[in-house]
Amino acid sequence: MDVVVIGGAGHVGLPLGLVLADHGHRVVAYDTDAGAVERVLGGSMPFLEDGAPDLLAEVLLSGAFSASSDPAVVSDAEVVVVVIGTPVDEHLNPDPSAVLVALAEISDRFRAGQLVILRSTVFPGVTRRVEAWFADNHPGVDVAFCPERIAEGFALTEIVSLPQLVGARTAEVSDRVVAFFDTFGVESIRVLPEEAELAKLFTNTWRYVKFAAANQFWMMANEFGVDFERVRSAITTDYPRAADMPGAGFAAGPCLFKDTMQLAAFSDNSFALGHAAMMVNEGLPLYLIKRIEASHDLSGMTVGILGMAFKGDIDDSRSSLSYKLRKLLLFRAREVLCTDPHVVDERLVPLEKVLDESDLVVIATPHTAYRGLEFRQPVVDLWNLTGGGVLI
Ligand SMILES: NC(=O)c1ccc[n+]([C@@H]2O[C@H](COP(=O)([O-])OP(=O)(O)OC[C@H]3O[C@@H](n4cnc5c(N)ncnc54)[C@H](O)[C@@H]3O)[C@@H](O)[C@H]2O)c1
Repeated sequence: MDVVVIGGAGHVGLPLGLVLADHGHRVVAYDTDAGAVERVLGGSMPFLEDGAPDLLAEVLLSGAFSASSDPAVVSDAEVVVVVIGTPVDEHLNPDPSAVLVALAEISDRFRAGQLVILRSTVFPGVTRRVEAWFADNHPGVDVAFCPERIAEGFALTEIVSLPQLVGARTAEVSDRVVAFFDTFGVESIRVLPEEAELAKLFTNTWRYVKFAAANQFWMMANEFGVDFERVRSAITTDYPRAADMPGAGFAAGPCLFKDTMQLAAFSDNSFALGHAAMMVNEGLPLYLIKRIEASHDLSGMTVGILGMAFKGDIDDSRSSLSYKLRKLLLFRAREVLCTDPHVVDERLVPLEKVLDESDLVVIATPHTAYRGLEFRQPVVDLWNLTGGGVLI
């Protein structure tokens, strides 16, 4: 099929476009970011994604994949997938109109017979609004909501292995969407659009709340002088009911926090558990500093931060708590040196400089590159990468 991915140069849109192109579709990634489109057309990935550089080269060469910032490409598509970003604003409010506005901007490009698959994580009720908008403006366009559930860095394998939630209003639309996803052999789970919208928000919030519980447990144990990692290991060893208890760590990034806040806004800010999780997770850098200050005078120290990405082995620093930690330390310490093997940021310095010049080091992101490092200075290792426990 001819497929256009709107937001096709982004973290979700680009891997999806590549996989579709690899499975027999003719794909154009449409994106308003002309710079990203140019990079992609030049064969270069705008971000790290395992296996993507080779696949990009392959599908560009075969002609199955292309990219453009001209909305005219949308008219040629039989299937249009929409994966633009849906961030919350500075008041932590989602913008329920973001997807609708993006579609309305290119309204004259749609035509009857097309299938529009919304894939951004949306505020509940958005799909119904989009359906109504198409019914008014372009009757004959089918609409479905099929959330993306991949984890960044693992997109290429997860797109073709995770079951696909297919949120459609009618059996006809549902059949059409299932046939589309069948082309890369994933199981489809048929639900209503509203069920799929909540499923995606519940999934991310569930993960965020679990991380918050682990982080709260870690702080409790720590206050008691106990190493949470030893407790967690005792709990989870050969005990399936608690096997999924996460370790402590910065829980951040562009999705979990944002989607928990979308759900809070959806429930008229009465989602106490979600807000509590946000306070625990976002408060972790402050707690770390409080603990460090209990035994060190930061004002005379150089502190090193290892890892600025929001999670290990990727280059995405969106909403990373490493930057929050940096900001807090800049106010308290003599100097703060930050490094990351993947993130591109002119404020960062090489790892060797951080290790040479810091009086204390915080491992903020669990990059594989930091495993097995030896430190001459005290190290705060929330992730237990050094194997020395997480008590601080
Ligand atoms: N990043 C993830 O791991 C992940 C996983 C699952 C779901 N999601 C959801 O997927 C959506 C996209 O997230 P992302 O991380 O890919 O964001 P992103 O910012 O990396 O990508 C979005 C892309 O859309 C483009 N864009 C914005 N407005 C546009 C418009 N009007 N027309 C065409 N292109 C436009 C941007 O230039 C950008 O390249 C969000 O709703 C997010 O919550 C993300």
